This record gives sequence, structure tokens and C-alpha cells, in this order.
Amino acid sequence: MFENVSKKDLEEGRKYLMEGSVGGVITVLIESGKGAVIKDMNGKEYIDCTSQAWTFNIGVSHPKVIEAVKEQIQKITHVRTSFETIPKLLLLKELGEIAPKNLKKISFCLHGSVANESALKLAITNNPTGMKFLSTFENYSGRTLATIAASWPHHPISRLFAPFMEHFIRIPNAYCYRCPFNLEYPKCGILCAEYVKTMLERGTEQVIAIIMEPMQASGGMVPPPEGYLKRLREICDEFGILLIFDEIQTAFGRLGAMFACEIYGAYPDILTFGKAIAGGFPLAGVMQRADLKPPEPATDSFTFAHFPVSFAAAIATLDVIREENLIEKAKKMGEYFTSCLKDLQKKYELIGDIRGPGLMIGIELVKNRRTKEMANDICHQIVKDSVEDGVIFGESKFKGIGNVLKIKPPLVISEGQADKVLEVFESHIKKHSEKLAKS
Ligand SMILES: Cc1ncc(COP(=O)(O)O)c(C=O)c1O
Repeated sequence: MFENVSKKDLEEGRKYLMEGSVGGVITVLIESGKGAVIKDMNGKEYIDCTSQAWTFNIGVSHPKVIEAVKEQIQKITHVRTSFETIPKLLLLKELGEIAPKNLKKISFCLHGSVANESALKLAITNNPTGMKFLSTFENYSGRTLATIAASWPHHPISRLFAPFMEHFIRIPNAYCYRCPFNLEYPKCGILCAEYVKTMLERGTEQVIAIIMEPMQASGGMVPPPEGYLKRLREICDEFGILLIFDEIQTAFGRLGAMFACEIYGAYPDILTFGKAIAGGFPLAGVMQRADLKPPEPATDSFTFAHFPVSFAAAIATLDVIREENLIEKAKKMGEYFTSCLKDLQKKYELIGDIRGPGLMIGIELVKNRRTKEMANDICHQIVKDSVEDGVIFGESKFKGIGNVLKIKPPLVISEGQADKVLEVFESHIKKHSEKLAKS
């Protein structure tokens, strides 16, 4: 379709883009992709350790998904939410079967942010005693007004929307590498969870729910220590508040389990999903405890929310996850990456901390292991320079200011591709380590 594209037309188009409406700008014009690799318009290939915003768990443009989508597009592309379609009912059946515990009531939308808004509305519907939520330091819930309010409060950009934040109270996250209480796990007795209990007991606000990522992604790739989420679950039960897990990044195999809550053995009342569910097509949604109230009529309805094309893509995606054994693969490749990175950590002081599990890897870079001085500039430079070498890394926390490099490739990544990623990573770490030693 675009064979005879003129560079001038592309330049013209570029002029009209509203700046700021994109995330960290990477100047690669993507033309196609397959598996863990994307290709630019000049034919250069890149191993994509961002899975295009963590959506391509099953690999880029998986043929099974493309087939399912083609078939559905030829039948009908849009159906209003009030009507049923075959892909909608079949996907509900599949999701209902894999939904953890009793999270058996499911709704859909097209964006993770909107799914989180739905979860907040459900919490209000089910616990109409107030409007206050708890969310962790550096939580990321999305970019709609309510989800900005629930995210990264300290960032200057979030400050712009500070008036919307009055409904969200921050709680310390379980960030053991930089413990907010300067304690050490497990001697700390998981004080960050006990602090929540004290807040609920002695605070003045009527809290109705906690919204959090079971493994905090954008805000630093922070996995919880054993026992933290279970303790929060107990506290929620004790105080009659709802627990919302945002599994928009973690669900569908990334951590080496279908859902993160299964790894940590702590289950929410409401779970949101998105990103990888439909193999690169837009889809998100909410799973809620079957015994809770559904939304009030018309409080959670969106024109394109039941997009049959994405439903067909999602059914195919779940088949691929099963058929290609991708959950086991994520676990194994995650262990491979992590053990190679641990070897590199012995050689380079710059590698402060390595976090997982599965293919949800965060590497915290520090200029000095003892002081843990953040190496934000180095992390950013490595991410930028690696593009030239054919590897696209992610970076936390927020565009340009984070010191955590992310490796979250499609779960189909091969060992050979993993070796290339590690080789490029080491070459840059080595170069920057030598520079640091001289400075
Ligand atoms: C944990 C988490 N929640 C919510 C969102 C928002 O999803 P979306 O960008 O689809 O609105 C994201 C997106 O990065 C995310 O990582």
C-alpha cells in the first residue's frame, strides 16, 4: 500500500504531530516486525525489549492473530456494546475460565487507563462510604485525569494536575533496594504494609480501596518482597476496603505466570488488564469478584469498547500463549537473562540491582554501589545508543529521568537474541564503567 511513499510527504506529516502526545521519542520509523524483532523502513532490524509498550508478548504480528483479525474484519468491524457477537462471548468464556479465584465478572474497554477508571468507579459503587483511595509511591495507572491523579505525584508534569489528586493518598511502596524507611527486609517486619494499617486505624480519611500494580512497572520496576501483598490483602479485609491490582503490564505471561497475583499468592477484589491481551490490538478490561455489584447502568459504557476485531485477536492470542508454552518460556528466558546479568553485576559496579521475575526485568544503574547514586544520564545514554546497535531497551521511571533500564521483550525471544541483547548491554556498561573510573 505504501510502496511509493515520498520522504517529503512523511516530513510534511511529521510537522503536524502534537508534541508531548507521545512517550520517549525514539527516531525509528517502524515498517514491520516478526517475533521479537521490528524492522525500520530501511530494512534495519532491532530486537525490541519494550515489546512496543509491553503489548507483543506473543511476538510482533503473530500469524495466528493476523488470520483471526482478517477473518473478523471481513464479517464486521464494529458492533455497539448493547449487542452480542460470537468473539465477545467466546473471549468471555476463555477469560472467565482463567480469571484468578472468584474474579469472574468481566468488562471491556480499549485502554488500560480507562480500565483503571472503571475499577475506581466499581470501587465507589461497591463501597460508597467515601472517595479516597490509597496508591503507592510512583504507582502508574495511566494518563486520563483520574489515573494521572493516581500516578507519580512527585513528577512536575503530574503536579500540573494536582487538584485532581485530592482523592488519592500515597502509601510507601515496597521498594527494598531503596527502602522508604531505610530498613532491611525481612528484619523490617514489612513496615511499609504495617504503615498502611496504622494509616487506616489512626488516619482521618474514609478510604474505600487501594489501587496498585502488584509489581510496579513504570515507577522503577519494583517487585514486592514475599509477604507484602498478602499482608496488604489481610489489612484490606480487616478494614473492609477493596484491593485493586492493575495487571495491565503483568498479566498474560510476562512474569512467568498468567497473572502476577498467582505468583505472589495474594488476590485482589478487582483486577485490570490490557496491553498484551490482544497480540497488538487495542483491548483492556476489568475482572471483578462475582459477588460484588456491577456498575450502575450507563456509568461505564464506551462506543468502541466491544471491538470484535480485538476480541478475535485476543482469542487467538490466548491460544498462542497455550500452544507455544509461552508462560514456561518467559520463566526460563527470564532466568537465563537474570543469571547472565548477575554475572555482569560481579564485573561492573554500575549494575546496582537486578529485578524480575520472568521477562519483566529492571536493572537499576548506580554510579556508586555504596551511596547508590542514581546513574540517570548513563541509563538514558545506553538506551539511546543501543538503538544504533539494533537493540531497543526501555527505561524507567519517567522519560529521561530514570536510572532503571528495562528488558521486557516478547516472550518468544530466542537464546541467540537474548545473547545479542546482553552483548550490546555489556558493551555500553563497559564503556561507561571505564569513563566513570577515569572521572
Ligand atoms: C501498569 C499500567 N497501568 C495502566 C497503564 C495505562 O494503559 P494505557 O496506556 O493503555 O491507557 C499502563 C501503560 O503503560 C501501565 O503500564
